[in-house]
Amino acid sequence: MNADVPWDEFNPADYISHNYRSVFPADAEIIAIVRDHFSDHFRRFPGRQVRGIDVGAGANLYPALAMLPWCEEITLLDWSKRNVGYLRDQLDSYDENWDAFWRSLCRNDGYAAYPHDPRERFKQIVRVEQGDLFHLAGREGRWNLGTMFFVAESISTSETEFEQAIKCFFHQLEPGAPFAAAFMEESEGYEVGGLHFPAYSVRRRQIRRVLRRHARGLRTTSVGKQAKVRDGYKSMIVARGYRRT
Ligand SMILES: C[S@@+](CC[C@H](N)C(=O)[O-])C[C@H]1O[C@@H](n2cnc3c(N)ncnc32)[C@H](O)[C@@H]1O
Repeated sequence: MNADVPWDEFNPADYISHNYRSVFPADAEIIAIVRDHFSDHFRRFPGRQVRGIDVGAGANLYPALAMLPWCEEITLLDWSKRNVGYLRDQLDSYDENWDAFWRSLCRNDGYAAYPHDPRERFKQIVRVEQGDLFHLAGREGRWNLGTMFFVAESISTSETEFEQAIKCFFHQLEPGAPFAAAFMEESEGYEVGGLHFPAYSVRRRQIRRVLRRHARGLRTTSVGKQAKVRDGYKSMIVARGYRRT
């Protein structure tokens, strides 16, 4: 079960060195898809500034950077003390490895035209919250834009918790809110800093089936089959759409 996993021992430095020291091909594909989805949506609402949330943010800033141009406030939610510590340390001036992710986003005009220094703006509008995505009661529909990357399938081996995590993610979003989510397909779990973390082995068809309960305009794409970041999974799936009304 998710609550039995030693999340406080998740080592963010090791996780970053394996996954985010530079932009790997799969992340470049994900970034291209997500930035186009968000920027196509917000182009229709010039000047609109919303509240964004990245659920299970961990040691990954690029979902937050993908939301930055349209947000007046971004919440980074995570359960792990060490990941929350990493995120808080990034607020003042995030590390240089994230600059390449911002440059990838800037291949879309919606990001290239952003009038602020992203590092400065990140510091102003991002808030980090230690919390459990399964217990966010009382704030349903609070956020207008959301991301959840490598979380629902990567926090336990339980199918029920996989489905529940997706449900909880959507409940935090207002109806109609754009979202992006990423999944490891058929993951056997993963190592971080010498510790094994669990995963629920899920296929694309099931990801789509569960997402369709909560989303409209759903699109899913498999990425990164050619250049894998590790063994023990089939592909990454990036999903996007809007919370069902
Ligand atoms: C595989 S990592 C993904 C991190 C990051 N989103 C990324 O894209 O690399 C899973 C994350 O979920 C967080 N997590 C696990 N259980 C959680 C829960 N119940 N509520 C909130 N976050 C949780 C972990 O601390 C970890 O940061």
